[in-house]
Amino acid sequence: MPLLWSGFPPYSSPKVSPTNPRILPYGTAAIAEAAALIRAGECVAVPTETVYGLAADATESRAVAGIYAAKGRPSFNPLIVHVPDLAAAERIALFDDRARDLATRFWPGPLTLVLPVRPDSGIAALVTAGLDTIAIRVPRHRAMQALLEASGKPLAAPSANASGSISPTRAEHVAKSLAGRIPLVIDDGATPAGVESTIVMGASILRPGPLSAEELGFEIAAPNGRITAPGQLDSHYAPSKPVHLDAAAAEAGEYLIGFGPVAGIETLSASGDLTEAAANLFDALHRADASDAPAIAIAPIPERGIGVAINDRLRRAAHR
Ligand code: TXA
Ligand code: MG
Repeated sequence: MPLLWSGFPPYSSPKVSPTNPRILPYGTAAIAEAAALIRAGECVAVPTETVYGLAADATESRAVAGIYAAKGRPSFNPLIVHVPDLAAAERIALFDDRARDLATRFWPGPLTLVLPVRPDSGIAALVTAGLDTIAIRVPRHRAMQALLEASGKPLAAPSANASGSISPTRAEHVAKSLAGRIPLVIDDGATPAGVESTIVMGASILRPGPLSAEELGFEIAAPNGRITAPGQLDSHYAPSKPVHLDAAAAEAGEYLIGFGPVAGIETLSASGDLTEAAANLFDALHRADASDAPAIAIAPIPERGIGVAINDRLRRAAHR
C-alpha cells in the first residue's frame, strides 16, 4: 500500500486520494454535498468564525474516529460539539443560570461552554473522551450554520489541521495540511476571528479566545500562566479497576478486550482496523468497567496511525 503522505502510515479512512480534498465555494451545492458526506459518516472541513473546523456527526463514534485519523492526532482530546441554537444545546448539556446567561448574550458566536453532559445526549463517548462534561457552542458563521441545518446533526469539530500544525484560517491552509486525508473543504474565505473560541467552565476561562474576560463580564482576569491548556487535561476517563495492557490472553477473572488476532469478551476490531478500534474504545472500556470482572485486560494495539492515540488513552486508563 503506498504512502499517501510522508511520515505518516496509511490506514483505512475516508475515500480520498492524494489530489483531495476538493475545494468548493460556499453555496447551496457545496452545503448539499457536505451534508451528504456528513450523513455518510465522513468528515468535511468547514469555516467557522474562529478557524476552519473538521466536522463529523457527533452521534456516530466511527465518524468521530475519522476526525482523529485524518488529523493524525496523537491523543483523544475531547472535542467541541457545534449545534444550531440554544434549544439544541439544552438537549445535549445541562445549563445553569450563568451558562444560560452567557449563551443568551454571546451565541451565536465564538464562545464554548463546558457543561455537564445529559445522560441521554446521544453524543458518542469518543467526543467527550469519556468525561461527564461536554464542550458545546453555537457558531455564527453562515457556512457552519448551513451545514448544521442541512445535515440535521450535532457536529464535532476540532480545527481542520494535521496534529501539531497551525490552525487553518483559509481553505488553502486546510487543503495543504490535510492533503489526501479528507474529501471536501467548503471555501468561504478567511475566517473572521482566526483564533479558536473562548472556552468557559463555570466562572473560569479554560482557553482564552476571541471573547475576553471583560467582555464576558467576569470579575476574574483572563488566566495568566495557569491556563488549563487544551489537550493537557488530566481528568480523562479512567476505569475504577486495574487495567492490564498488552495482554495476549486473559488472566483469571479479567475482562479481556481483544484486537485483531486476540479475541476477547469483546473485540475492538477483529480485522485489525485501527479506526474501527478507536471508534469502539471508550464504549468497550465503559462496559468492561461496569462488568463483574475485577480487572480489565487489553490486547496489544499497534503503535501506528490512530493506534498511537488509542495507546495514549489506554496508558492513561491504566495509570492509577
Ligand atoms: O473555535 C473553536 O473552538 C474551533 C472551531 C472549529 O469551532 N474548535 C476547536 O476545537 O478549537 P478543538 O477540538 O481543537 O478544541 C477543543 C478543546 C480541547 O482541546 C479541550 O481542551 C477543550 O476544548 N475541551 C473539550 N471538551 C472539554 C471538557 N469536557 N472539559 C474541558 N475542556 C474541554
Ligand atoms: Mg487545534
